[in-house]
Parts: sequence; structure tokens; C-alpha cells
Amino acid sequence: SGHSLLVIGSANADLVTAVDRHPAAGETVLGSDLDTHPGGKGANQAVAAARLGARTALLARVGDDAHGRLLLESQRAAGVDTSGVRVGGAPTGVALIAVGPSGDNTIVVSPGANHRLSPQDVASAGELLAAAEVVSLQLEIPPETVAASVRAAAAARTRVVLNPSPPAPLPPDVLAACDPLVLNEHEAEYLLGATADGRSPAEWAEALLALGPRSVVVTLGASGALVATPGTSHHVPAPPVEAVDTTGAGDAFTGALAWRLSLGDSLEQAARFAVRVAATSVTRRGAQTSYPTAADLT
Ligand code: RIB
Ligand code: NA
Repeated sequence: SGHSLLVIGSANADLVTAVDRHPAAGETVLGSDLDTHPGGKGANQAVAAARLGARTALLARVGDDAHGRLLLESQRAAGVDTSGVRVGGAPTGVALIAVGPSGDNTIVVSPGANHRLSPQDVASAGELLAAAEVVSLQLEIPPETVAASVRAAAAARTRVVLNPSPPAPLPPDVLAACDPLVLNEHEAEYLLGATADGRSPAEWAEALLALGPRSVVVTLGASGALVATPGTSHHVPAPPVEAVDTTGAGDAFTGALAWRLSLGDSLEQAARFAVRVAATSVTRRGAQTSYPTAADLT
């Protein structure tokens, strides 16, 4: 029996401190005691989906170090198949995260081992790919590895979900394979450039579809998400919640969405479920540490 979802992406140790306000360039502020949490956009998506009950595998690379063991432990505790997690080559990726009083965050990622995840690693994971209904990617691994993954998935007619985060240019054939491209307002503005100025999310979605993806989901934080295919767009509202820490909320959304798509949900149905998962995650600290099971969904 196969996996529903294969996540190909990053795994980071999140070093988190709370700040009263974010420092400007050249400024020093004091933060709270340091927390070390399992994170990374790929590892987060995999845990989000697996906690909800998805059969999930992760293809990633961590270092042979304590952070790498923390990440593997978190994946295994959630029930993720870690046979595709390569170990060694560089230290585990680290994310330096400052969380502000309203749960807003700034993140600097040092990729470490994530940047050693190679197209060869993808080629040697053929069984994981063949077993997947949906492959989900982000951009914290090398662009050539993302491209090789998307091309392998497209050749196998496997559905591709891609979150272009952190934003970077995407080859036209990679964009064309995305179904959906899932992105927030910053990432949409990056891909659209000046044409994004002064336009509504529905207009962004239309302009993004013109870049080639089969469908687009624009996440709107507390306002939910906008789901669009050529000729259709729907706003999906999010339940109101008290935000404590929004770190990894987008990854929870995308992991949940990708899983529901693998089960045959429509994009709109999948998004209605995923906004609830993301909303629940922002009410608790950390990324993976905050992800709900089906039983504790808002
Ligand atoms: O999206 C949140 C994630 O971004 C964090 O867990 C951090 O590791 C960075 O990858
Ligand atoms: Na959270």
C-alpha cells in the first residue's frame, strides 16, 4: 500500500525567542529564553499531514547531530515514514526566529544540510515517488532539486503542490505543473512584481494563473484563503482565533491541503479543511509542536 503524500523539502531546528518588538537593522533587542523546536517547511508539512492521519513520507536531509535527531524524532512520533530522510553532509539547517507580541514572526534560515539535498537523492527515492498520490514542495532546498522533483512527479502524472517559500524564480515548466501553487501575499507580490500593486487577492490569483499553474491558493492569514482555477475563484474564510505564534501556520495549511487533495477533495473542500488546521496551529507555540490531530481541530 502506497503513501498518500510525499513531502520533499527542508528540515530545520527552530531557535526561537520572543521579542517585544522586532529589531531594525543595526539595532539590538533582548529576547526571552531560547526554545529549540523541530521546524523547516518540509518537515512541518509532513508532521501536519501525518498528525491528521495522512500516510506521509518525507524526503529531506539533516546533519548527523543533535538537531538532526530532534527532527527525526518529531517525524517518527507523528508517524511519518522517514526512510527518505538522508543524514550527513553538513550540519542540520537552523532557523533563527523572533516572535513578536501578536504572534507575528521574522525568520532567518541557515540551510545547512538542506542545501545538500540533491537531484540524485530524488532519483534514488523512486519508490517513495511511485507510491505518492501528491508530492508537496517548498523552496528551502536547491532549485535544481525542486525542478528534478517536479519533473519526476509530472512524468509519473503525480499531482504537485508547491509553496514558493522563500520566494525565488521558478522555471516555466515547474510553474505549469503546480496544482495548486500555494502562496501568501509576500510570495504573490514577489512573483508578480510591480503588477501586484494596488490589486485585490482575486486579481493576484488571476495574474498568477496567467503564469501557468493549474490552480492557485493565496493564503490570507486571519482572512483565510482564496482558491482559484482559470475562470473560478472562491474566498474561504478562517475561523477567528487568538494568535499566539503564527510560525509554520502556512506549512500546516499546505500539508493539510495536500493530504485532502490526495484523498480526492476538491480544491475548495481541501482549503476549507486546511484553514481550520492552520487556525488551530496559531493558538499554540512553535510550528510542529502546535499542529492539531483531527480530534483537536477548531
Ligand atoms: O514556515 C516556518 C518554517 O520556516 C520554520 O519552521 C523555519 O524552520 C523555516 O523553515
Ligand atoms: Na503555532
